[in-house]
Amino acid sequence: MKELRLVCILALLGFLIGCSSSSNDDDEMLPPYNNNNEALIAAQNYFNGSLKPIIDSKCVTCHEGKHNKNDAFNFGVFNNARNSADNMYNQVNSGKMPKDAGKLPQSEIDKFKEFMDLVDKI
Ligand code: HEC
Repeated sequence: MKELRLVCILALLGFLIGCSSSSNDDDEMLPPYNNNNEALIAAQNYFNGSLKPIIDSKCVTCHEGKHNKNDAFNFGVFNNARNSADNMYNQVNSGKMPKDAGKLPQSEIDKFKEFMDLVDKI
């Protein structure tokens, strides 16, 4: 009788340990995925709401017209802008882009910087 009780207690302990360790694994897996997703959505929203209007009016005259739609330098497409976020900021901040035109106002340069920072968090 004593042995049976011991077996039951051991079985129960094993069950509890198994449950708690597997739920810990889940907790460790979820936050990074959620954060990445939130950072991606934040960068996409910022691109569509704040940066794309500037790119559409000041950049795509050359960057879409001279290249085809799938070209990496078509910055009106989020993935291309994301891949060139640093490069775009450096070009507008140094005044090299938009080519053959005056330097962008600081408020617009700041938006390229903000986008670059958001992309860094993805
Ligand atoms: C008048 C045409 C024109 C406009 C407008 C223009 N670009 Fe460019 N851009 C070019 C050309 C041409 C190149 C190829 C390199 C060169 O000739 O300087 C280029 C190259 C670039 C590069 C790559 C630079 C490198 O050396 O890696 C980036 C990034 C860039 N442009 C960003 C922009 C952004 C952002 C805007 C809008 C604010 C913009 N460009 C507006 C013509 C233009």
